[in-house]
Amino acid sequence: MPADGDLGEAADVLRTGGLVAFPTETVYGLGANALDARAAARIFEAKRRPSFDPLITHLADAADLAPLVGPVSPAVAALAARFWPGPLTLIVDRPERIPPIVTSGLDSMAVRVPDHEHARRLIAAAGVPVAAPSANRFGQLSPTRAEHVVRGLGAAVDVVLDGGPSRCGIESTIVDARGDHPVVLRLGALPVEELEKAIGPVTVRPGSSGQPVAPGTLAAHYAPRTPLRLVHGAESVGADGGAGRGYLAFRDRPAGHWAAVEVLSAAGDLTEAAARLFDALHRLDAVGVTEIVAEPVPDAGVGRAVNDRLRRAAATWHPAP
Ligand code: TXA
Ligand code: MG
Repeated sequence: MPADGDLGEAADVLRTGGLVAFPTETVYGLGANALDARAAARIFEAKRRPSFDPLITHLADAADLAPLVGPVSPAVAALAARFWPGPLTLIVDRPERIPPIVTSGLDSMAVRVPDHEHARRLIAAAGVPVAAPSANRFGQLSPTRAEHVVRGLGAAVDVVLDGGPSRCGIESTIVDARGDHPVVLRLGALPVEELEKAIGPVTVRPGSSGQPVAPGTLAAHYAPRTPLRLVHGAESVGADGGAGRGYLAFRDRPAGHWAAVEVLSAAGDLTEAAARLFDALHRLDAVGVTEIVAEPVPDAGVGRAVNDRLRRAAATWHPAP
């Protein structure tokens, strides 16, 4: 737990236009004052993020939404009431006070209240909404530990707050519930099944078009530096397949001689697998293997978001025809 003084200092850095990396329950965020266009511009520079990729605005409390954005649709209100603080990002109309750079010129804005005490105290102390993408360079693995942020962004960040490993380990689910038919724009830590219990059927449409409405949905994203291949079982790699390669398994250690193996959850628990996904990929990426071979996890609950990340990581190196 950072001392209040550290949080206070970090809040000052935010208020004066600086960049603060902070823990959330999903992944670490790279925060800037969302009311300050120049501060937001620094996020795009630090991440080398294309300007067409809009940021998520973070609030300290669900009660801060109405004063910022005014009235919202009943479904948005219901989802915020049910799941905030938590790993759900909602699309709302962009208020005047938020400069267009934050939303990449869109009339809409993504917003969420993170379920992490440091994050909420930081945002509350700053007294401003905080724009924050994941604290990694564009297209690369998301950070679930402070050390991932330091390794990936280093001097580009003014302050890194260490809150330990992220509990969910995978980004928030993004939902556009402004209209009559709620649409999931990005699969994430909040399972679709949970959303549907709260508001009825939703359509899942992550990255169905070439338009980068939510670039977390670009075909190639969330990628380690090492080429990643998605297979159905280690056997499919062949007899000598393991040599020099790393293997990312769901629950069972693979047969064969692999240079490195990461098991996401020996108990076969999808929540644990999601929490460990990026950490395991960061480790496999650091051991100097020629290729990471990964198997999908069961495609239910948060497992759908894990498989989504694995497919996009693989797509970087093996573009779909
Ligand atoms: O869990 C999370 O959401 C983490 C933590 C830090 O909160 N943040 C995160 O941000 O994943 P980022 O920038 O890596 O991904 C944000 C996604 C992008 O794919 C972006 O395109 C989409 O949100 N997005 C932002 N504003 C949008 C909008 N107005 N309409 C549709 N998609 C939007
Ligand atoms: Mg990201």
